[in-house]
Amino acid sequence: MQPQINEPAAPERKRIFSAIQPSGMLTLGNYLGALKNWKDMLDDYDCVYSVADLHAITVRQEPAKFRRQVLETFALLMAVGIDTEKGTLFIQSSVPEHAQLAWILACNTQFGELARMTQFKDKSASHADNINAGLFTYPSLQAADILLYNAHLVPIGADQKQHLELSRTIAERFNHFYGPVFTVPEPYIPKMGAKVMSLQDPAKKMSKSDANQNAYIALLDPPEVIVRKLKRAVTDSETEVRCAEGKDGINNLMTIYSCVTGKNLKEIEAEFDGRGYGEFKAAVGEAIAEELRPVQRRFSEYMSDKGALEKIYREQAEKARYTASRTLAKAMKKVGFIR
Ligand code: TYM
Repeated sequence: MQPQINEPAAPERKRIFSAIQPSGMLTLGNYLGALKNWKDMLDDYDCVYSVADLHAITVRQEPAKFRRQVLETFALLMAVGIDTEKGTLFIQSSVPEHAQLAWILACNTQFGELARMTQFKDKSASHADNINAGLFTYPSLQAADILLYNAHLVPIGADQKQHLELSRTIAERFNHFYGPVFTVPEPYIPKMGAKVMSLQDPAKKMSKSDANQNAYIALLDPPEVIVRKLKRAVTDSETEVRCAEGKDGINNLMTIYSCVTGKNLKEIEAEFDGRGYGEFKAAVGEAIAEELRPVQRRFSEYMSDKGALEKIYREQAEKARYTASRTLAKAMKKVGFIR
């Protein structure tokens, strides 16, 4: 029998889909905005997660480095706690149905809709020498990712909300013209941690592509590096640890501390009452390092056995293809392709 994604066992469970690009090392922003939720949702939902390597080549990649990054991202997701017994975790390019459906959906996406995407505008500005067609049609591929699995919910950080809204529009448009095929997905954006900001410029989101390494925490940063980056984090000229307008740096650190420790903002204010920024920053650094320690240990274990890792990603791709191929066949039939 073909492997399946929990279909007969738990048909009543809602399906989740999300993906992450393997472009450079993942950050604390990825972890708090998305990955922590991905892990927490495994018990209650039928989860399908992907390493979005097709999306990553919209920016020029060096092949050997790219191959390594895809593998490391896969291992890191497992290390974060994405258990492949409970859910599905696969490499996007191993499931060719993504590229196939993306074409059909691109033909159902308007030029004007794509031109409005802020990520397209930002990336065209930062990669002015390579504004390729893939960068422009990127959201049609993202819609294909989600719609192939008929996902109900998509756990993402706030920056992906616009893409998700376009995925919904594309699904509705297709269903309207050709008949019901796709589930229209809802975003799932966490209340805390949806937008973790840069440690050096709290007006900007924390990003793995930031040229200044002090601006982000990479999930594989050693504990002493994490503590040092926190010490250097930009705050303000006051001394009181409290959440308030205009205190973007402190607000960001309080949010991070809250996500990592589970304490709410009031409890954090009470804990650091009269203690100043220095002590607070040290505590945030320690808490992050503590949270990431087991992730880093598991990552090294997974990376030390590439054979075992390969076996897992091959099996997982098979599992994903079972569902993806069925949805694609349905969509192609509706469009009128001869099968
Ligand atoms: P990517 O790879 O940029 O980011 C992966 C996830 O991390 C979240 N994130 C953040 N959350 C909070 N604070 C931050 N500073 C921060 N930085 C990143 C993102 O919101 C995202 O949830 N296009 C997507 C990948 C993708 C995808 C999909 C997502 C491809 N197909 C289908 C959902 C569904 C991207 O580039 O995410």
